[in-house]
Parts: sequence; structure tokens; C-alpha cells
Amino acid sequence: MELFTSKHLSFKLIVLLILVGAIKAAAQETSRYPLIPYPSKLITGTGSFIISTKTNIKTDSRFESEAEQLSELLGNGLGKKLSINKSEKNSRIKLVYDASITAAEGYKLSVTPQQVTISAKYPAGMFHAVETIRQLLPVSIEEGIAHKQLSLPAVTIADEPAYDWRGMHLDVSRHFFSVSYLKKFIDRLALYKMNKLHLHLTDDQGWRIEIKKYPLLTEQGAWRTFNNQDSACMKRAADNPDFTIDKEHIIQRDGKTLYGGFYTQEEMKGVVAYAAARHIDIIPEIDMPGHMMAAINSYPFLTCNGENKFGELFSKPICPCNETTFEFAENVFTEIMDIFPSKYIHIGGDEVDRSDWGKSDACKALMQREGIKDLPALQSYFINRMEKFFNSKGRKMIGWDEVIEGGVTKSAIVMYWRTWVPDAPVKAVKNGNTVIMAPGEPLYFDNQPDQYTIYKVYHFNPVPKALNNQEAKAIIGAQAEIWTEMIPSEKRADYMYMPRMTALAENLWTNKPDRYESYTKRLVTQFARMDAMKINYRLPDLPGLLNNYVFTDEGKLSIDKPLPSLNIRYTTDGSVPDVQSSELPSPLTIKTSQQIKVAPFTAAGTRGDIYTLNYKQQQMLGPIKIAPPQPGLMCSYYKAYFKETALMRNAKIDSTFISDKIAVPASVKVPSFGISYKGYIDVPADGIYSFYLNCDDGGVLSIGNDVTVNNDGNHSAQERSGQIALKMGAHPFMLDFIEGGGGFTLKLRYSVNGSEPKEVPAGWLKH
Ligand code: ACM
Repeated sequence: MELFTSKHLSFKLIVLLILVGAIKAAAQETSRYPLIPYPSKLITGTGSFIISTKTNIKTDSRFESEAEQLSELLGNGLGKKLSINKSEKNSRIKLVYDASITAAEGYKLSVTPQQVTISAKYPAGMFHAVETIRQLLPVSIEEGIAHKQLSLPAVTIADEPAYDWRGMHLDVSRHFFSVSYLKKFIDRLALYKMNKLHLHLTDDQGWRIEIKKYPLLTEQGAWRTFNNQDSACMKRAADNPDFTIDKEHIIQRDGKTLYGGFYTQEEMKGVVAYAAARHIDIIPEIDMPGHMMAAINSYPFLTCNGENKFGELFSKPICPCNETTFEFAENVFTEIMDIFPSKYIHIGGDEVDRSDWGKSDACKALMQREGIKDLPALQSYFINRMEKFFNSKGRKMIGWDEVIEGGVTKSAIVMYWRTWVPDAPVKAVKNGNTVIMAPGEPLYFDNQPDQYTIYKVYHFNPVPKALNNQEAKAIIGAQAEIWTEMIPSEKRADYMYMPRMTALAENLWTNKPDRYESYTKRLVTQFARMDAMKINYRLPDLPGLLNNYVFTDEGKLSIDKPLPSLNIRYTTDGSVPDVQSSELPSPLTIKTSQQIKVAPFTAAGTRGDIYTLNYKQQQMLGPIKIAPPQPGLMCSYYKAYFKETALMRNAKIDSTFISDKIAVPASVKVPSFGISYKGYIDVPADGIYSFYLNCDDGGVLSIGNDVTVNNDGNHSAQERSGQIALKMGAHPFMLDFIEGGGGFTLKLRYSVNGSEPKEVPAGWLKH
């Protein structure tokens, strides 16, 4: 009875009102303030501030260029820039200096129906505030559509980033990207408050920056005949035009077709200035001592023995044992420092085939003279000497995490990429180094994105678990990489990094993983902005699709649209769906075994990923008798490198063990291996079972005597899935898994008759 006293009722009412308020605030967060990254503090307001061409801006003299940027931004939406005043009169948008905002990139924004006040201590913070305002304005401003007036929702924001280093990398060597694309890229970084652009300017496949002292680096080194990566792209272009090599980088010279290009120093200085105006620092990387084939081609004196070819894994490096190499490197970096004012210069230092150094007389003599004990230490000799040179010019050196192998000074900054060496960043921090986290998983944005990618990027924790709070301060942020071996066009580049860069941006700025749901809703509004900006972003995944389906009588295919505005089209004749293809009915009934290709399309005709769905009619598979079943699967372990799982069949088994789960034992430490899990799967009921095999590298699952999921070959983590109709009882089960090197993933989940996927219960696995 107590429950119904008026005291409790009013308490319930208050709780209800708070709840309604919270729901309303959450809805506003995603609709009225669809900001990415979401500010660290935002208080919603009521009403709006109306901007017309008559609205004036007043600025503190420290923020004149940001005031100009704001005026231009608003001008895009009003057809005319706003005037900027020094006086108070009529100025209802004010850019003010606020010494109490201590964060270098922090700002405050107050919008009321009467007034907009933007405060910062430094121009970088003021610039981020302008980009916040941009995201609060209608997306049509991106297309320069003139409105009579613009409306800015009332709000109070106090904002600053969680991490100082919020970076993107772009490899312009493997495939080249024009100055105009770099500027577009910078605009997008700025929109999402990223502040570092790392340009990988040189590699085996091309030298992309003019160096006046060594003109052949670009005269010859910037051009190549098509290589195997170009051919692979051309092949893929048959199904996906985004793989077509951008024509503007193909030339004819001396009767030959050449691919390439480079930036003149003047052009690059223009890009640097463009980025600086957007408070983005460009960090140049001249990768050495490895990855130098393009330079060695023109300047063979750089090697120990004149050879310029690939070793077992990597190209032959330049020689750290000749003074002429240091002279070259210092001359190159002197010109680089002249172009790039960044405090940071990246020397690469990754993937060095040091074997020739060991055979060189010059190296033997140097090692003896300097007391250098081994080849990693010889690499450190090179890196540390170059660091001294950088430091003498007032710059800090960054190197990929291999630089710690032979010992590195505390002052070097370590960029961690090798996911399969998880203790590298921990060692670097304990050595006293500052670390930037850029691990391949999940931050190599050249890896094919899938339905899990954005979640993984959003939830990636830049701080390794093994570090305490004090040590964590050495992690200054994170960065994603775009290696472009298989990215030959601007459209493909857009697709690979958008929208996942927005997840990284919010991770590094806001760093509140529990905002994920809200982020996914805000992202939908951002898609509209990306459309207006003509970004070829990857459309959201079609949910719940498998690669291989089975049906006993008839199958039904219906797909929930991830965005209501998308059209899903399909073909059944093997052709790639296009805007002319039929729209998928809901559901499509399938009566015979066949292959269906589906793809989502935007109203503008942009196509998302193409899904190939194989439907097979199958009778329920009857169980087999096993006597008496033992728990767990029988596993064979192979300590060898395999390109495909089938190659395990002829290999020597190193050991065997029993396992009641599909997992790699913790005792496996070698980089390359294979495991075959064999036995029976004992299912508790008749049904259509779906299996999801996520692996890096390859895996093949067979149930009954057929392949149910084929995810074979050497590749980064990817999920493939398939179905089988099983009667209750035991069925032959075999899962072959191979890891080629570079870190593995192995996960098998199941669902039955459309249930949520989960791990296969231990009790089902027998031998
Ligand atoms: C790298 O991916 N070699 C840094």
C-alpha cells in the first residue's frame, strides 16, 4: 500500500520527468547537435541564433584568420561573406580571447538567440570552434547553396581533446595523390578535428618530393612502368571502377607508359601552408634505411654492394657504413626541413633487410671500430646518428617501432604499428620514449572494412593495458594509416578511410566509448554532409547477410535497409548490380539453387559494397553414430608457413592436443603456423545452422563432408559465413586454420534459425 502514497507518486513523477528529459536530451544530441567528434561538454539550449548577410563578426586580433574562415564558411551558406569588425557595434558574433582556457586546442562556444560568443586562448582552439559551428549549420552550405538566413541552434559548449596526436597517414608513394586531393584530405581532417597528417613520401615504388640536390630522385624515381600492384588493381577494376588507376598520373615518355608523379617543393610548401591555416601539422616521412629502391635506382652508391632488389621479405636497404650515405641522408633531410616546419620528422626505419650489411667489409670495419654488437644495433647506429642530426636542427625524430630493436635514445618518438609485437609500445614507454599508437589492427585503413570495423576503431584504446596511469602519459595519441598498394584512385581512398576516420576522430577527441550508440546516429547526419562534400564514403553494411545459404523447401531473402534512403538492387545472372537492376522485393522467394548479387545504392546512384549470396537447396543432413564420444576436438599443430590450408595435408604434424574450443593455445608463439581441429559437432536440435568464421589469416570449416565456410588464404581479419541444414546429433566437423605472420585472429560463432550469433558451446565439440 505504501507504494501508492502521494510521496512515492511524486518521487515516481520526478524520476519519470528526469527520464523523459534524458531521452529528449539524447534525441537532441543526435538530431539538433549531430557533432563528430562530440564535445567534451555540451549543454543544450532553446531557440536559435539567426544569421543573415547583415550579421557582423567581431574578433580579437589574435584570431583574424579564424574570423576570416568563419566569415567564408557563413558566406558559403548566405551567398556573401560577413563583414569583420574591430568595433562592438552590431556585432553579434564575437571571437574573444580567454586566458582561462588552458588546453592548446580548447574552446568555448555559447550560442543564444541574441549572441554567439566563441572563446579560446589559442588560434587552434578557435579554429576547432569554427568547425563545430560548421557541423551545426545545414549540410547544404557544403554545396554553396545560398540561404536568406542560417539558423544556429542555441547551445553551450566547453571542449578540448583527450589526445594531442590525432593523426592520419597517407602513402603517396605506392600510388600518387594530387595536390588538390591532399587539400581535400586536409579539409576533411579539419572538419573532424584531426590535427596531424603524416605523408609517406618515399618508398620502393616511387619518390614523390623534389630534392634539388638529387634531381634524379624525381626525374627517374617518381616514375615507373606498371608494377604487379597496378596489375592487381586493373584486374579488380573489372568489377569495381574505384580500382581504375587515376589517369592523371599516367604519362607517355620515350615510347613508354609510365605511372607516377611528384610534388615540387613550391607545391608542397603550398600544401603545408594550407594545412597550417587549418591547424594541421604535416609530418614528412622519408623512409630509410629500408624501402629505398626508388632512390637507389638513381643513386646506387647508397648501397653496400651496388645491389638493388628484394631480399627474402623486404628490399635491400641503403648502407649505414659509408659516410656518403649520411651525406646523402642529411642533404635530403635538410631540404625536407626547409619545406616542412613541423617539429616532427619521420625517418621510417621499418622492415629493413639487414643481411647484406653483415657481408660488407665496410660494415664489419665500422662495427669493430664502434663496438657495434649486431645488425639491429648497426641499424640503431644509423637511426641514432640521424636523430642527432634532426635534433641539431631543432626537430624531433619519429620512427616506426622497429627502431627500438637495437636500442634507441629516449628522445626519439616511437610510432607503433606491429600488432603482433604487443609489448613494443610498452617497452618503448618503459625506455622513456613518447609513443604514437598506429597498430595495423584496427588502424590500417587500407585493410578492407567490414561490419565490425567502425565499432573496433571507436573502441580502440590507445593506452596498452600494461601501462599504469603515469606511464600512460607517454602515449600522446594515435593515428591511422592508408597504405596505397591497392588504392590507385581518389575514390578508392575515400572509400577506405571514410567513415571510419570519424570513429577515430571521436575516439581521440572525446574518448567516451559509451557514446557509441549516439555516434552511430550522428554519423547518419554526417553522411548527408559527406554526400554534399562529394566524399565517396563507404555506405553502411547491409545487416545480417551470409555468404552461403541453404534451404530445404524454399529460401526467403529480405534485407533491412541500414538507411531508409538507400535502394537495394539485385541480379541473379552473375552481373554486378547497377542503378538499372531490379529493386529487391521484401522478401525475395528462392526456389532453386542460385547465386544472387545485391548492393545498396544512394539516391545519387553511388553503389555500396556488392554482396554475393549463394543459395543451395539441401536436404537435412542426418547424424552419424559415434561410439562413445569423447569431449573436445582432436587438434594437429603444424609449425610451418602455409599459403593455403590445404597445404597442411602434406605437412609434418609437430604435436597434437585436445581442445573444447576453437582457439589458438597461448603456448603458440611462432609467427607462422597451422592448426587443424577435427572431430564432430553434436547439435541439440534439427535446424538450419549458420556459422561465422572470422580469421586472420585463412580458415576453412567443413561440416558433413562439405565446405560450409571458405575463408582461406593469407589475409587480414575478415569474416565469412555459411549455412548447413542439420538433424539433431553428431556430424563430422573439421576446421583448418593457418597464420602466415603478423598476428592472428580466430573466432567461430554460430546461430540457428536466425538467432543471435554466439560461440559454439564446448559441449557440442567431440571426437
Ligand atoms: C609499415 O607498415 N611497414 C610501417
